[in-house]
Amino acid sequence: MQKKILAYAAAAVFIQSSSGGAHAQKDAANGKTLHDQHCLGCHIQQFGGDGSRVYTRENRRIKDYRALLQRVAACNAQTGAKWFSEEEADVAAYLNQRFYRFKP
Ligand code: HEC
Repeated sequence: MQKKILAYAAAAVFIQSSSGGAHAQKDAANGKTLHDQHCLGCHIQQFGGDGSRVYTRENRRIKDYRALLQRVAACNAQTGAKWFSEEEADVAAYLNQRFYRFKP
């Protein structure tokens, strides 16, 4: 009986955490898709190559994870991409994993 209750509790926690709560896993692959759709074109136009130089140039602006999230949110608003905050988090996770490597 005790075991059964524990199993239910564990299942409930799992469902909560997989349905986009505050601690949902960030999906960097989804972030890449969103980023490439809405952001990459202009970065390529402005910075040439594959557009990644905006994130790797020596004098890049973003210095920590918080700033990265804020910048992604601002660019989301500016470009009218209409991402939800979970999607902003996915894009930030992708950029961090691929380029910035801050400790979140
Ligand atoms: C219309 C062109 C354009 C679009 C669209 C665009 N960007 Fe940018 N982005 C730029 C330019 C130009 C810079 C460099 C500005 C500077 O030097 O501060 C930049 C800089 C950035 C930086 C800071 C890089 C650094 O560390 O210095 C981030 C992060 C960023 N963009 C994310 C995004 C995201 C996410 C999107 C899509 C929602 C996006 N951008 C869409 C033109 C664009």
